[in-house]
Amino acid sequence: MYIKINQVTDWVAEIVDFDCASMTPETTREVEESFKRNHVLAFRDQSMTPSELSAFAKKFGPLETPINQLYVHPESSDVLILSNEIRTDGTAVGVVDGGDGWHSDSSHMKSPAKATILQSIKNPDIGGDTLYCNMELVLNALPSSTRKRIAGRFGVHNVSKLLNPRMTLSAKRPDAQEFYQKAAATKPSVLQPMIRTHPATGVQSLYVSPRFTIAIEGMSENEAQPLLDELFAYISDEKFQYRHIWSDNDVVMWDNRCLNHKATGNLAPGDIRRMHRTVLSGDEAF
Ligand SMILES: [Fe+2]
Repeated sequence: MYIKINQVTDWVAEIVDFDCASMTPETTREVEESFKRNHVLAFRDQSMTPSELSAFAKKFGPLETPINQLYVHPESSDVLILSNEIRTDGTAVGVVDGGDGWHSDSSHMKSPAKATILQSIKNPDIGGDTLYCNMELVLNALPSSTRKRIAGRFGVHNVSKLLNPRMTLSAKRPDAQEFYQKAAATKPSVLQPMIRTHPATGVQSLYVSPRFTIAIEGMSENEAQPLLDELFAYISDEKFQYRHIWSDNDVVMWDNRCLNHKATGNLAPGDIRRMHRTVLSGDEAF
């Protein structure tokens, strides 16, 4: 073994004494192997530039083009800035409301994200954690009657918060109304299997989220919305979760094919959180 793995939970690990910016083919392969067994991998003390972050992420496959071009990093168009910082002229440094509801990244796209690699640049003193929910455990915990109701069904996923009564627009994000109005008009809903099979491991998981799943195909609203509420309640159950408490220069890579995640927020007034995000492209879900 070239890499040292510190197992944090059954499905979360830290890769220790590791430099993301100088990966070899051998260490890349071992990280990929570890990523099949773990849904979250954390690398501490990685002071990568945006270009280095992009190069690191590309070792694992092609990257998605960030959906919000307003906030890509000037040094690398692969890197999206997530930040609550507002400049004196009222403009935002990054996406202010990133990750503010449970979701799997880009499940609103026909071919959703395989993985996300997030680097912490500046952490707040309080708050700013990320929660991960293991959707394989959730699926296994469902009563058989519920599982039967969703088997073979497809969720309707849409990126626009304006089409999702479970979400509200962040008052702190100046472009939110315009962005989601345009998204509602130009980005049609996509269908995703409610039970998804992981392409690398063959393990099934529940593939819905309060952020993006707005309906169930072929099911009336009266039936679908309570069913979605029932499913979403599981995601909020701590026994299926891991909480990542960030330090500056942490890099975390997570598997969107079997997890939901959420930014917890709760920053003290005036405190700053800034992250750099890259997303690995994935294949159509099945
Ligand atoms: Fe996300």
